[in-house]
Amino acid sequence: MRILLLGSGGREHALAWKIAQSTKVEKLYIAPGNAGTSAVGQNVPIAVCDFDAIARFVLENEVSMVVVGPEDPLVKGIYDYFKSDARLSHVAVIGPSRQAAQLEGSKSFAKEFMQRHSIPTAAYKSFDATQLDDAYRFLEGLKAPYVLKADGLCAGKGVLIVPTLQEAKEQLKQMFDGMFGSSSATVVIEEFLDGIECSVFVLTDGSDYVILPEAKDYKRVGEGNTGLNTGGMGSISPVPFADAAWMKKVEERIIAPTVKGLAADGLLYKGFIFFGLINVEGEPMVIEYNVRMGDPETESVMLRLKSDIVEMFQKVDAGTLAGTTAEFDARTAVCVMLVSGGYPEAYGKGYEITGLDAVDGSIVFHAGTAVKDGKTVTSGGRVLAVCSYGKNRAEALDASFASANKIDFEKKYFRGDIGFDL
Ligand code: AMP
Ligand code: GLY
Repeated sequence: MRILLLGSGGREHALAWKIAQSTKVEKLYIAPGNAGTSAVGQNVPIAVCDFDAIARFVLENEVSMVVVGPEDPLVKGIYDYFKSDARLSHVAVIGPSRQAAQLEGSKSFAKEFMQRHSIPTAAYKSFDATQLDDAYRFLEGLKAPYVLKADGLCAGKGVLIVPTLQEAKEQLKQMFDGMFGSSSATVVIEEFLDGIECSVFVLTDGSDYVILPEAKDYKRVGEGNTGLNTGGMGSISPVPFADAAWMKKVEERIIAPTVKGLAADGLLYKGFIFFGLINVEGEPMVIEYNVRMGDPETESVMLRLKSDIVEMFQKVDAGTLAGTTAEFDARTAVCVMLVSGGYPEAYGKGYEITGLDAVDGSIVFHAGTAVKDGKTVTSGGRVLAVCSYGKNRAEALDASFASANKIDFEKKYFRGDIGFDL
């Protein structure tokens, strides 16, 4: 079969690498892809939200499955776009409908969904600018620190955790005044949860689900989880505290009620669900839903997934996922991100990358790379995801750090403490 994967990051290179291993794939296209994805498929220069161009490409090249990497096209309704067009409706789209993608597209939608289906999450209330006084009063009733979330998509930047009530009120006012544009016209204020986070992933066909390997990501740029938030500096799978007993709670209290809730609410969903969880004194709670895989979690998760992912996608599309389980590699997988110095603030691009050929004990997924005059160069802040297996965490990390030291580009930086808190 001919598959088109949408996206251009490390997540998409990892997905492309996994998809390309399936015997069911005759041809894999990636739009727009990066320098790494071109080694496992064919890149096509189409933007992920240019639905008309995607549709033309799918028809001209007889693509029968579209796998959606990032959230943007999902929240903008790529699933519905395909399903409402008679020429395209036979194409499998791996991702939720526009309405179901609101689980990520709107924090208040997600919170209402969790409340309606009794899924454990932080207590909250949402407000708009006309309710400033009510919002202040709600803040006064909470304990520090204060969690303020822009309702809409903000590329992972719309959450503020503020230490004092005074600052929380000031930040809230600024959010209503357009700190995140229209995304913060509505703000969710919620109770702060103290615990350690874990990302859990499933594939669902809308009525059944398959649980994929879990992972932990490292969002802050600095060692010891300090400094600014990034798109992710590394990941690890498995997560030690996500043992069988904890995962049983996750499945019973969170995964099963979510999938049941989607069906009960008539929300069409055929794709990945990403549960951003927090472990509060042994009890899992939902911090957020995403309607796609995580980045850089996917890079570790794909290493550990032994089952044929395309076969699972076919079942997702056909609605025949019941009774399917995923086979996991028992080894530990880790991902260490090499970033461009300065990231997540200003950083340079176009630096030549050397040493990739010298890497042997790791799998290197490209995140922000491009080919220029026959050379691989940096094209983003997160540049390469250096992934390795090990019989334990230390061994896998050693392999990734050794590989990370063989690769070079100007101002290369990586965190040498991924997994330190586990
Ligand atoms: P989100 O975009 O909702 O995932 O939030 C970004 C990050 O903020 C999360 O990964 C958590 O580290 C943190 N966070 C969000 N909500 C809470 C909460 N209620 N309590 C504690 N930390 C939170
Ligand atoms: N690693 C977190 C995310 O993909 O949103």
